[in-house]
Amino acid sequence: MADVKKLYLKTYGCQMNVYDSERMAEAMGAEGYVTTEVLEEADMVLLNTCHIREKASEKLYSDLGRLKPLKAGKPDLKIGVAGCVAQAEGDEILRRMPLVDLVVGPQAYHRLPEMVRRQGQSVDTEFPAEDKFDHLPQRKGKRGPTAFLTVQEGCDKFCAFCVVPYTRGAEVSRPAARLLAEARDLVERGVREITLLGQNVNAWHGEGPGPRGLGDLIREMAAIPGLARIRYTTSHPNDMADDLISAHAEVPQLMPYLHLPVQSGSDRILKAMNRKHTAAQYLDLVARIRAARPDILLTSDFIVGFPGETDADFEATMALVRAVGYGAAFSFKYSARPGTPAAEKTPVEEAVADARLQALQALITEQQRAAQQAMVGREISVLYEKPGRMPGQMVGKSEHLMAVFLDDPQGRVGDLVRARVLAAAPNSLSAERMAD
Ligand code: 5AD
Ligand code: SF4
Repeated sequence: MADVKKLYLKTYGCQMNVYDSERMAEAMGAEGYVTTEVLEEADMVLLNTCHIREKASEKLYSDLGRLKPLKAGKPDLKIGVAGCVAQAEGDEILRRMPLVDLVVGPQAYHRLPEMVRRQGQSVDTEFPAEDKFDHLPQRKGKRGPTAFLTVQEGCDKFCAFCVVPYTRGAEVSRPAARLLAEARDLVERGVREITLLGQNVNAWHGEGPGPRGLGDLIREMAAIPGLARIRYTTSHPNDMADDLISAHAEVPQLMPYLHLPVQSGSDRILKAMNRKHTAAQYLDLVARIRAARPDILLTSDFIVGFPGETDADFEATMALVRAVGYGAAFSFKYSARPGTPAAEKTPVEEAVADARLQALQALITEQQRAAQQAMVGREISVLYEKPGRMPGQMVGKSEHLMAVFLDDPQGRVGDLVRARVLAAAPNSLSAERMAD
């Protein structure tokens, strides 16, 4: 191929960014760019950024600073900033970092190739009406056994701490027909597990004939021959419709794993966060989900040190965690984000927030270990994702999204096997393959 150019792509933040990066790489492929892992040989560097917490945003500027010598020695190098920091800060990025050539928001990715062709600096942070994914070319050919598929973007919930409704915009669902076609295409290319993505994935809704809610969409996807596993993330408790809960009981391909962030166990803080449910309502929801699928593994996100959080509020969070029993969870110290309602309020003292974060993380780690340990002796299914470092070893994921190591010299990436768990480490299991 004449004139092959190299693209170095770095992705920060959530799985939606991982999906977006993949689609941007495909679009740039149509422009003659192949991806590289070697920064020094890149003709273009694209940073797909995250704005969710201050630390995540700051990473962009320190990484851009580090690109200065590279750009100085290679003036034709193009540097692009994509993602949620691009959306939130727009041309401010160009002012702060003149080495940047283009700034593209998450809803304008389909215009990226055209921006790259242009000379000089450019910024596009519009929210166009068209679906960017329909305008991004898709690569053909084989691919790995797992894939993400964005079904929904944006959020209308406006939790008081969160920038997503501002950076990703209003909630938009992609049409069912397109999603089913994309899923079929992925399966034809070797994918056996699809994770449906959305900032508020369970708010997905279909228009016209065909599936109406996420439960329906999952049922239709499960009918695709060869698609062995379906997952979805991230869900809001208030959008867990009965039909989605019953899908967990009825659809064997739907994995017994659910990320259901609650953020806090205190009703006072939940109210201040604008979460629009109480701790008791969340616990009731958990009970209904577990009645549908008793072996489901639940995970969550928590924020500690939200403005106004007292010791009693934090204790309510610890009590909720004890009551639910999570398989894993992310916990974060509250980070004030400009433009959000909570940013106006007085923050909790840093040392207090740090101590709470430590206590919560210790409890979650204990629960995660117990959940891993409880798997020992059990029969599981494992989807092989890659060979391990040891000869003959394979690495895959269980139904519960736990990493599993197996000795299986005959195993191949993409195999879905039965196995028995031999031992549990804090973050992984070891297992032996069973006869099919
Ligand atoms: N500060 C700390 N954590 C936050 N999250 C979102 N916004 C903030 C913030 N301002 C966390 C929430 C969310 C996860 C993706 O990030 O827990 O569920
Ligand atoms: Fe942010 Fe999630 Fe709340 Fe939406 S529901 S505002 S994405 S935390």
